[in-house]
Amino acid sequence: MLPTLEWTDAGVRLLDQKLLPGRVEYRLCRDYREVAAAIRDMTVRGAPAIGVAAAMGAALGARQSRAATVAALRGEFDEILAALAATRPTAVNLFWALDRMRRKFDAAAASGDAEAVRAALVAEAQRIAAEDIAINQAIGRHGAALLPAAGRVLTHCNAGALATAGFGTALGVIRAAVAAGKRIEVLADETRPFLQGARLTAWELQQDGIPTTVITDNMAGHFLRTGGIGAVVVGADRIAANGDVANKIGTYAVAVLAKENGVPFYVAAPTSTLDLSLPSGEQIPIEQRDAREVKEIQGVAVVPEGVAVFNPAFDITPHRYVSAIITEAGVARPPYAASLARLRAGAEDRGPRSGGGERSGAAPDGRG
Ligand code: MRU
Repeated sequence: MLPTLEWTDAGVRLLDQKLLPGRVEYRLCRDYREVAAAIRDMTVRGAPAIGVAAAMGAALGARQSRAATVAALRGEFDEILAALAATRPTAVNLFWALDRMRRKFDAAAASGDAEAVRAALVAEAQRIAAEDIAINQAIGRHGAALLPAAGRVLTHCNAGALATAGFGTALGVIRAAVAAGKRIEVLADETRPFLQGARLTAWELQQDGIPTTVITDNMAGHFLRTGGIGAVVVGADRIAANGDVANKIGTYAVAVLAKENGVPFYVAAPTSTLDLSLPSGEQIPIEQRDAREVKEIQGVAVVPEGVAVFNPAFDITPHRYVSAIITEAGVARPPYAASLARLRAGAEDRGPRSGGGERSGAAPDGRG
């Protein structure tokens, strides 16, 4: 799999997800403003990937600053963090990563050496990227057991290698299940309007040789009722304390249809996607994107000129539709208020490297 994003001496290198699958091109962001623009215009997208890109953008900004003292660097760093935070509001991983970079700044500032602070920030951004891959592999190990030994698994949007530093969350679960010998066939919702399912999920699973069939979003109910689907697995942009899940627009409809048809609905996400400060999904900010994304497909108008459209990028799936939440720290089951708090506490006890693969054996279950 081609890397989604990379730290290089010249800047942050991003696989341009606006161009896939037609063109495989990298965009080099030479300063933090270019990284912010790339997050906003979805050159890089997906909650964990946005977080990693923002961390790298923050490190890039600090490295390019000419500030000679830690105090001067701090002033500039605050502006850099604010610019990166203002890109996309829903995925909490963005704010989690920027917060971690700020804490690294504070810890390194004790040295009193601006160069040492810069070096620490560059190292921290690279660490966040490496950890993300390990965390996704741990999510995959925990989640693989939940998928059927053979059959169809439906997914919505792209929660794959492209949405992370590598391996993926929902697609990581599918990859791990396939690696464990399960015969999985993926049904990928096209995911209007940005087509993450048709363009990105289908592309990356094809690279891996995992059988994939694309369906339009309005076919999901039909296949959940008739199509022998053994499970649904999706990613998340933010999960509230009660287990309500913000994910790509259309996820809610899939979850309701899954429950109606007795199909388990799993959410796979790192613990950095948990926002336990929010009691429910009602408080999660939903990004509203440019109307042109709905009005046009590849520059061709599909809505009459002058007609209004809505374009919320995410929706909220109430926790009652969620069968389990798969994290690197284990699998949470209802009631989520208790199980997610336990998982978060466990992940914090083990430190940021908890997904690093040192845990083996059965997935610790958030129940009981
Ligand atoms: O608008 P996007 O493409 O950034 O939205 C992505 C999603 O909704 C993903 O499902 C989510 O971020 C999880 S990615 C591992």
